[in-house]
Amino acid sequence: MANPDLWAMADLATPWCLHVAVTLRVAEHILAGVSGIQPLALQCGAHAESLHRVLRHLVEKGVFTEPEIGVFALNDAARGLMEPGSRLGFDLTSVGGRMAHSWSTLLQAVQTGEPAYHTIFGRPWWEDLAAHPQVSADFDSLMGPAGHGKPDPDVLINGDWDAVRSVVDVGGGTGSLLSEVLRMHPAVRGTLVDLPSTVARSGEVFAAAGVADRASSAGQSFFEPLPAGADLYLIKSVLSDWPDGDARALLRRCAEAAAPNGRVVIVNGVSPDEERVSPELLMLVLVGGKQRRLSEFRQLAMSAGLEVAVAGYTSTGRFMVECKPLQ
Ligand SMILES: C[S@@+](CC[C@H](N)C(=O)[O-])C[C@H]1O[C@@H](n2cnc3c(N)ncnc32)[C@H](O)[C@@H]1O
Repeated sequence: MANPDLWAMADLATPWCLHVAVTLRVAEHILAGVSGIQPLALQCGAHAESLHRVLRHLVEKGVFTEPEIGVFALNDAARGLMEPGSRLGFDLTSVGGRMAHSWSTLLQAVQTGEPAYHTIFGRPWWEDLAAHPQVSADFDSLMGPAGHGKPDPDVLINGDWDAVRSVVDVGGGTGSLLSEVLRMHPAVRGTLVDLPSTVARSGEVFAAAGVADRASSAGQSFFEPLPAGADLYLIKSVLSDWPDGDARALLRRCAEAAAPNGRVVIVNGVSPDEERVSPELLMLVLVGGKQRRLSEFRQLAMSAGLEVAVAGYTSTGRFMVECKPLQ
């Protein structure tokens, strides 16, 4: 007989039940006062007995309570299902739904070393987002403060901002990090670079932060030439989205664009050599990207015309790498 722990670990029932409950907005309906299984199923557009079985499974796992048979109530875990930025959606118009389904391609990714996302969605991840504006908007929101909280503007290891007058945030999403950086440093101007549909959502982010007069945006690929001559190029949570060839091409664009004394700063994506590197399996499955060790990154940067000037922790305890163009 198989080890029961392995059965429990491999059992997909709980994750799928969570996805179903989120997709059917069960928690929201209960919050609105619909608690009996029959009216709940009606509101959810579901088959009552089947929904009942799903909810009873979740109750066993500590999500929802069933104070009377067939009557459901929220507990803290169930309330968490309603949090904005939740990735638990299952339907394919949500980014969480597409991520959930993409796990079925893990075997192929492991066999080939390449993402196999396109085998179920018809296109690679970024092209798929571009073709589905609702999913792309959902992804942008997940990356923004609703999903990851307010970004930390502490992006220089030595906190040395004196020589910085201009910043380019490369693959900066809808501009939440750039907004925070500009808010903290009133003498600095910034440019957001990201895909056109994503930068199109940045105007209100800059306006809300009160930095719109110092922020501009470029809707373009970061594999094209970047806005040139800035003092600082930020690459946050982007490098680990790409395999080596693409990561090198992106770093090379930064090296070409940076001012002679400019810096290229990698936030997330590189780990100190002495730490265990996170396996980042979702990156493998979705995009073929990975977390890199500092020594591995050093080689990659060098081949892209950058050298690591300093690597270490900021005052807020994040590991980052600052590079400068090779002279
Ligand atoms: C994981 S998100 C990180 C966003 C942001 N830097 C952050 O930390 O929240 C990766 C970003 O890369 C952008 N991106 C993907 N491919 C791109 C390309 N070819 N050119 C420019 N941006 C791209 C995506 O639109 C997305 O905003």
